[in-house]
Amino acid sequence: MKRLSLLLSAFLALVPMLSASSSKPGVTVSEFGRMPDQRVVQLYTVTNANGLKMDVTNYGAIIVRLYVPDRDGKLDDIVLGFDEFSGYTPDSPYLGAVVGRYGNRIADGKFTLDGKTYTLAKNNTPNGVPVHLHGGEVGFDKVLWNAEPVSKDGIHGVKLSYTAKDGEEGYPGNVTVTVHYWLTNENELKITYAATTDKATPLNVTQHTYFNLSGAGVGTILDHEVTLDASHFTPTDKGLIPTGEIAPVEGTPFDFRKPHKIGARIDADHEQLKLGGGYDHNWVLDKKKPGELSRAAVVYEAKTGRQIEVFTTEPGIQFYAGNFLDGTIKGKQGRTYLYRGGLCLETQHFPDSPNQPNFPSTILRPGKTYESTTIYRFSTR
Ligand code: BGC
Repeated sequence: MKRLSLLLSAFLALVPMLSASSSKPGVTVSEFGRMPDQRVVQLYTVTNANGLKMDVTNYGAIIVRLYVPDRDGKLDDIVLGFDEFSGYTPDSPYLGAVVGRYGNRIADGKFTLDGKTYTLAKNNTPNGVPVHLHGGEVGFDKVLWNAEPVSKDGIHGVKLSYTAKDGEEGYPGNVTVTVHYWLTNENELKITYAATTDKATPLNVTQHTYFNLSGAGVGTILDHEVTLDASHFTPTDKGLIPTGEIAPVEGTPFDFRKPHKIGARIDADHEQLKLGGGYDHNWVLDKKKPGELSRAAVVYEAKTGRQIEVFTTEPGIQFYAGNFLDGTIKGKQGRTYLYRGGLCLETQHFPDSPNQPNFPSTILRPGKTYESTTIYRFSTR
């Protein structure tokens, strides 16, 4: 009996590996862990027709692994994360997660909507200034989402949805958010977001994956070349809250309209770089029409030849160079994530929009559907 159960547990331990090593296009599901209340946390492995593979968990809608080829066709996992569910502790810096209800910062954890003031957690203190960050103490990144595999026209993915309650983290309205992750046969991670509410509420959801095109845990991102399709950015104050100014990038280290290595200017003598501890800002994307799906960014790593092109319907992108990674996180395969060992490209509305009447509105009202699309296209050159 004991031997049988040993055999059974050995087999069960193999199941996730078996599914992870299968390269047939489709989606497989395995158990990733348990929530403290014993709810099962799943891992969805999505494979496309070219053998690209992505692991997604319904905890925080987190992308745990993403394997893409280098210029010789060698697959590597290029996103920071943890092998075990237990790695995703509440102080994980949002590795791979969907952040919300309001991704990014809200000044002083307060906003006024339709004459009523709402108070939110001040769960972040950049340069000693307490502000609200990424939806509060238990944002969308720390809850269990409903999830199911999805397939359409030979493309596979995962559909995740979560209903945040009226008053959850201090925000008004029951909000239902649905996120689709598709791994297309054009080697794109296509993400669509949709949301509805029963009371007016701010909403700004985004994806907080840290990429390292050399492979997760392989050095820093300082040699990655970045292009941002933005001639303006939103400078911040000490609390990393936009001052309200839409400043031209021209003549500053924030001008990425032509490709630059991240490391070339990140420590330049510029007040904004000092406040952010490097690049940690919102760029205002150059768009012909608001809401159009247009290119926002390109990231290229010369040694592997890997490239990501980012397209979005959102008006802004937070380019965050991993300045708050401090070399203490031990991630997948026992690799340490260095200071600036990963970068985020968070497509978004601008930070603190609920307090900034001049920024595009982030208020979702009953009867309306919030919709947003972002594509990360992987290729080599
Ligand atoms: C922010 C950083 C923050 C990080 C949390 C990013 O979206 O821009 O300032 O430290 O999230 O890991």
